[in-house]
Amino acid sequence: MDVLTTPADMQRWSDRVRAGGHRIAVVPTMGALHAGHLTLVERAFDHADRVIVTIFVNPLQFNESSDFDRYPRPIDDDLDACERIGVAAVYAPTAAAMYGPAFQTRVVPGPLADRLEGPMRPGHFEGVTTVVTKLLNATRPHTAVFGEKDFQQLAIVRRMVTDLDVGVDVVGVPIVREPDGLAMSSRNVRLTPDDRDAATVLSRALFAARERFDAGERDAAVLRRIPSDLIAAEPRASLEYVELVDAATLEPLDGTLDDTLGAALLTAAWFGDVRLIDNVQLSADER
Ligand code: PAF
Repeated sequence: MDVLTTPADMQRWSDRVRAGGHRIAVVPTMGALHAGHLTLVERAFDHADRVIVTIFVNPLQFNESSDFDRYPRPIDDDLDACERIGVAAVYAPTAAAMYGPAFQTRVVPGPLADRLEGPMRPGHFEGVTTVVTKLLNATRPHTAVFGEKDFQQLAIVRRMVTDLDVGVDVVGVPIVREPDGLAMSSRNVRLTPDDRDAATVLSRALFAARERFDAGERDAAVLRRIPSDLIAAEPRASLEYVELVDAATLEPLDGTLDDTLGAALLTAAWFGDVRLIDNVQLSADER
């Protein structure tokens, strides 16, 4: 496995691999790899015979410097995990290699970034679109694989890749969950044992709404209230939002749901000083 740390070295690697007739898929990450990331890598192999994992904790997308400082960085474990699963190259640039002293350009997302996570995390999605553009430019993949846990991020990246003619296929991979339903996240290790137990309320609440949807419920207010009430009743959870949205446009849905539209329920809540997000898609063909 090769480890590259500068954009120029990464581009040379990819050009050589492409010239050899290989297909490249990239899995962008911020490291602290868990089983969810490894599933993204497995799915990447469905689309390519050479997989690159990028590991970069991107300062531009953290709106709180304390969150950036606390973000786990177990780089040796991450490299071992990548090697074991057959990754061809890890791109782990330094912050200086990514953002030199004269750096000033940003990729600005559109209205998809203005709702849900957007108002809660000012500047976050602009940081994501900027770094994803740089990671795609450095790795020059045919396919880029992202997790559906960051549902809004995936929608924004898809839009950006289309709008800017990036020429990369974007593949979304369903959320990987712990046996008790908690969505896998690098932030989970920071939960106290009590908060870790309490955090299962997110998936329980979303699944409860999905069961009602499967049983025929189509009233948007009811489907939103079921998870809101369950999460609000958990004393260790501080709920930020539960939203029922059109899965493609992220526009809020009201009234009676139209079965021809994909619908998704998204939530964010704090457990102590850890902020978690989760989502489920309601339309059967999206699962
Ligand atoms: O989802 C993530 O881990 C990050 O937002 C990403 C896409 C790697 C960009 O830093």
